[in-house]
Amino acid sequence: MPTILITGGHSGIGAECSKLLASKYHFNLILAGRSPEKMETFATELRKSYGIKVNVLNMDTSSLASVRAGVDECLKLLNNDEIDSLQAIICNAGVRLNGKVSYTEDGYETTYATNYLGHVLLVELLMDRVAENGRIVFTTSGTHDPDTADGKMMGIADKETAIELANMGKNNTKPISLGKMYATSKLDMIQYAYELDRRLKNAGTSLSSIAYDPGATSGTGFLRSMPKPVQWLAGSSLMHWIMKRNGVTMGDVIFSGKSLAKVAVDLAYANGSGKYFQSNDGKLIERRSSKLSYDKQRAEKLWNDTKTLIHLQPNEESKKIR
Ligand SMILES: NC(=O)c1ccc[n+]([C@@H]2O[C@H](COP(=O)([O-])OP(=O)(O)OC[C@H]3O[C@@H](n4cnc5c(N)ncnc54)[C@H](OP(=O)(O)O)[C@@H]3O)[C@@H](O)[C@H]2O)c1
Repeated sequence: MPTILITGGHSGIGAECSKLLASKYHFNLILAGRSPEKMETFATELRKSYGIKVNVLNMDTSSLASVRAGVDECLKLLNNDEIDSLQAIICNAGVRLNGKVSYTEDGYETTYATNYLGHVLLVELLMDRVAENGRIVFTTSGTHDPDTADGKMMGIADKETAIELANMGKNNTKPISLGKMYATSKLDMIQYAYELDRRLKNAGTSLSSIAYDPGATSGTGFLRSMPKPVQWLAGSSLMHWIMKRNGVTMGDVIFSGKSLAKVAVDLAYANGSGKYFQSNDGKLIERRSSKLSYDKQRAEKLWNDTKTLIHLQPNEESKKIR
């Protein structure tokens, strides 16, 4: 049975996605993440409940070395026929940090490295092993679009190159807020997804690259770095009412997780490459992302700068799109 690799697939939106992939679509799973105990507990639950095969892969997406090590483990599983073909990669792990700017062991701003750079490295290194009709799905966020109610809550960075973003706040420069950094990491994920789609189409492959926004979703660990009163307020029905009234995209952990699974494997989304899907108030819809996300010049620069930041070697570039 084909396998789907998902980052952050053991909790929140990712866990609901994993459950539907197992129960309705009967895929085997690879849970990739930085918390082996939590992943193993959830893997046991999935194996028992749905009879699928679940592998657990150590992969901290904020660390380029950890992503590389995780990919090596995954390649071993594939090469030793311990797992069947890869049908999809779901780049779902993410953080919305708070407080002071921090840097990873690679020297990059943590939000940007975790949400964006690590996932690009994962995709670049594994893409050639995904089935020809497979999909790569990126969990993004409506906050990337400053023209929407979601985006107005955070705004995006005015400095926009990947190199500037990864090095934000260094050399005595003032860092942007971590909210803006979060929104911009998701903007870059969407632009990378679109650029990947264009390159895959130009190369004549039928692999899909899809962006997905689960909507503002309470009941996950998403706000865990925020003060407790903020977490409580964000989960309250009053706040839901206010957000909905103000036009914020409203997710729900079960619906948004199931929608992520559908976008990743359901036949209904087989022509979804290069598109942006969103869960909003119980509906899964295709819509336009921000104006900037369609800027092809920015996307090309982002593509090249990102390759530099993740230290991708020329011989590691995908053969599908070289
Ligand atoms: N909730 C929302 O309102 C909302 C809205 C729009 C988009 N999103 C996006 O939806 C995705 C899932 O978020 P969620 O709401 O389900 O929150 P969540 O429950 O906190 O899930 C986030 C997942 O990411 C994993 N993760 C965090 N840092 C990691 C790292 N360095 N390496 C590997 N895994 C890491 C976490 O693993 P650990 O257990 O190890 O921490 C967790 O499994 C995220 O990309 C988020 O940005 C959420």
